[in-house]
Amino acid sequence: MAGSSMNMVFDDIQGLARYAHGKLSATSFLLLDVADATAARAWLLSAPVTTAVPVSPLPETALQVAFTAAGLRALDVDDAIIEGFSDEFIVGIAADQSRSRRLGDTEGSAPGNWAWGGQAGDVPHLLLMLYAIPGKLDHWQTTVQGTDFEQAFRLRQELPTHSLGAIEPFGFVDGISQPDIDWEHKQTTNLHERDRYANLLVPGEVLLGYPNEYGRYTERPLIDPVDDPRASILPAAEDDPGVRDFGRNGSYLVLRQLHQEVPKFWQFVDREAGSDALERDRLASLMVGRQRDGTPLIPSSGDPVSNRFTFEHDPDGHQCPVGAHIRRSNPRNGDFPPGVTGLVSRLIRILGFGRNHPREDLVASTRFHRILRRGRTYGSLLTPEDAVKPGAPEEDRGLQFICLVANISRQFEFVQNAWSMNTKFAGVHDESDPLLGDRKPLVDGSATDGFAIPREEGPVHCLHGLPRFVTVRGGAYFFMPGIQALHYIAGQESVQRGAEA
Ligand code: HEM
Repeated sequence: MAGSSMNMVFDDIQGLARYAHGKLSATSFLLLDVADATAARAWLLSAPVTTAVPVSPLPETALQVAFTAAGLRALDVDDAIIEGFSDEFIVGIAADQSRSRRLGDTEGSAPGNWAWGGQAGDVPHLLLMLYAIPGKLDHWQTTVQGTDFEQAFRLRQELPTHSLGAIEPFGFVDGISQPDIDWEHKQTTNLHERDRYANLLVPGEVLLGYPNEYGRYTERPLIDPVDDPRASILPAAEDDPGVRDFGRNGSYLVLRQLHQEVPKFWQFVDREAGSDALERDRLASLMVGRQRDGTPLIPSSGDPVSNRFTFEHDPDGHQCPVGAHIRRSNPRNGDFPPGVTGLVSRLIRILGFGRNHPREDLVASTRFHRILRRGRTYGSLLTPEDAVKPGAPEEDRGLQFICLVANISRQFEFVQNAWSMNTKFAGVHDESDPLLGDRKPLVDGSATDGFAIPREEGPVHCLHGLPRFVTVRGGAYFFMPGIQALHYIAGQESVQRGAEA
């Protein structure tokens, strides 16, 4: 196959796994249901889905497609294949109360209040993502949809998207820190521990069918070609060449529509800052962990994207509060605390001795919990200066949060639950993520609406009574297949018919 690097086959991978399509700032995200399975498969078979093969000059349009478990069923994919996916994908993001509680999807964010995806009948079958340079989207949409589209699909909803340039609605530059996917296989997965934080991540943390950071293959549907000769169009499983890999080069895609109350955010911070604009900016940047222009609060070593830093030399959070959004969502630690290198000190650490600092060892190693973010914003721009004015319009603004992972529970759900929503994180308590927290008091009545700002020069400065700034409006777990798996899904009936003829 063309476009391979070592054993990566970029023409079998959807482009979104490798590129954020940042230049293609006009988007249309369509939630669709299958209206006619035969017509839908025929459309999918010829859909111009964008692959991860680099193109020069950069393309002016892109198309990606992903399916829920309900969508795969509607396209007549065998139950045996669907059962090969992880439970959380099959069950879905909203069907189980305990999952909703763990994700912080309660009260205003409870699935029952979602605009889409919250109830069994509300789960869309597929997500079609169209991207284009400004001015080209309508034409691209007409080209992509062609003539049979309306017969094949029912439009459930077009999700709002609107580019604010590089910033998200609260006004901070977003999309800076991403794991660096090791497409060239520079790093071995045989290493079972890594002392230091590294940003390089094996492809198996984003794509199915490759070794993950544990050196293992994540569970996925595998098909014996003896049972299903059509499966021979799929790649062989790397770890079991006798069977075909339906998951290979595919990725789970988590989509959550997150409504952001921009005036509420800035008016709260403004009150805490005594209406001092500089102090307001400072407090808000401590909540995020970066300044509005993206500059990290920890000095970063001359890297153009300001991402080469860890929190190793700021254990108490004097520079970047331990509970800041970026520190909770990526604590940037290695498998062992700094200084633990030799076999003996590792053993001491594994047995739970030799801790120098109460926070050490409490936070899991980051490399097993990375996510590749691909979200887009919606709603109009409201600057902090305008947002603090009385009566500032509380319009519909937010983030279509999207991330790609190979394991939804170990990556997205872990970050959301164990790090963002957790009211006990790395020694901080009575607070959860300052941007995302649901602020619900715990069962024992203790508050979760604080935010601690440790200071070198004095006692910790605590903000209290943070309101909820972000509410979930919809969401679903999708699978974004590799191109061959897409063709398998799309081509099955025609092959079946051929076999019958
Ligand atoms: C409306 C909701 C959200 C807003 C406004 C927001 C905003 C931001 C901003 C401004 C940054 C810093 C810029 C950057 O490094 O890209 C950031 C980083 C990040 N966010 Fe969020 N975010 C939101 C939701 C989420 C959610 C739901 C998750 C995951 C469950 C998440 C995970 C991350 C991660 C992993 C990083 C990078 C951290 C790092 O590696 O330093 N964010 N976010």
